[in-house]
Amino acid sequence: MASAPSSTAARERDETVADRSAYEAVIHRLSKASVDKHWEPYKDIPWDDPEFLVDPADSRWELPEVDRLGGHPWYRSRSPETRARIGLFRVATAMKIGLQFENLLKRGLLNYAYRLPNGSPEFRYVYHETIEEGHHGMMFQEFVNRTKMPVRGMPGPLSVIAQVAPWIPLISTELFFVFVLGGEDPIDHVQRKVLKDGQVHHPLEETIMRIHIAEEARHISFARHYLRNRVPRMPRYRRLMLGIISPIILGIMARIMLAPPGPMISRFKIPRNVVAEVYLHNAAAKQEIRDSVGKTRELCEQVGLMNPLTRRIWKAMGI
Ligand SMILES: [Fe+2]
Ligand SMILES: [Fe+2]
Repeated sequence: MASAPSSTAARERDETVADRSAYEAVIHRLSKASVDKHWEPYKDIPWDDPEFLVDPADSRWELPEVDRLGGHPWYRSRSPETRARIGLFRVATAMKIGLQFENLLKRGLLNYAYRLPNGSPEFRYVYHETIEEGHHGMMFQEFVNRTKMPVRGMPGPLSVIAQVAPWIPLISTELFFVFVLGGEDPIDHVQRKVLKDGQVHHPLEETIMRIHIAEEARHISFARHYLRNRVPRMPRYRRLMLGIISPIILGIMARIMLAPPGPMISRFKIPRNVVAEVYLHNAAAKQEIRDSVGKTRELCEQVGLMNPLTRRIWKAMGI
């Protein structure tokens, strides 16, 4: 039987060892799950099956009435074909922005893995994750290609600024995994909501979402465990800095992931007042942004990133 620790220091050392092995057990489990359960877009998705072909006029692309734009009288008064095209354009834009975000993420993961020491369990898991994100990028781009729509991703200036993201791990790996959650959590939140909205979805969209949700669950789990393991042990001033920057990153990321695509507004000539009513001055839209970072907010609370100052920043960012 293990004897009780004789001092506070010894007890803390024991707890640290216990925490560390629990954390490593999680990483091993995630790595094993990546081997046991994964998908490859050109093997597991029947792109050319007649059921899976993309027809932009297919009514299954229409936005549901529960959607803020989908329920708006302006949208409801469009022809069924235009309604379907708007819905498809939105799905395709979300995938394009998603694949750009994941491109930044992969480069960041590789920058992180580059410096990991031999024997580090994170190395193998991060490579699994990078490979899965590679598959997601191909899967999303193939979908976009098949819509034949002139979908663009992030707006140009934002895309330029975003190029710093892969270098964040060189400054702080903790901040990098906050950035990861900032992109992955809102996408996951939206995809889960779509699958539960009770509508009939196009089988291609449904398959892509199911694959993505299943693999993202591991990525999100890794980022959360990483932060749980690291943040409480960070030096105070670094933790304070992380607490200040995190809500800023999360607020910006949630908006990038959930904002209405500008090209969609101009292409379908959505009137300004409709955009304002549906997206800008809409309490439900603001709530959606807050909800999409809900789990990360709770995590930040648990790992000690909340204090009166940082709470104010969360408020100011509207999250
Ligand atoms: Fe992904
Ligand atoms: Fe991911």
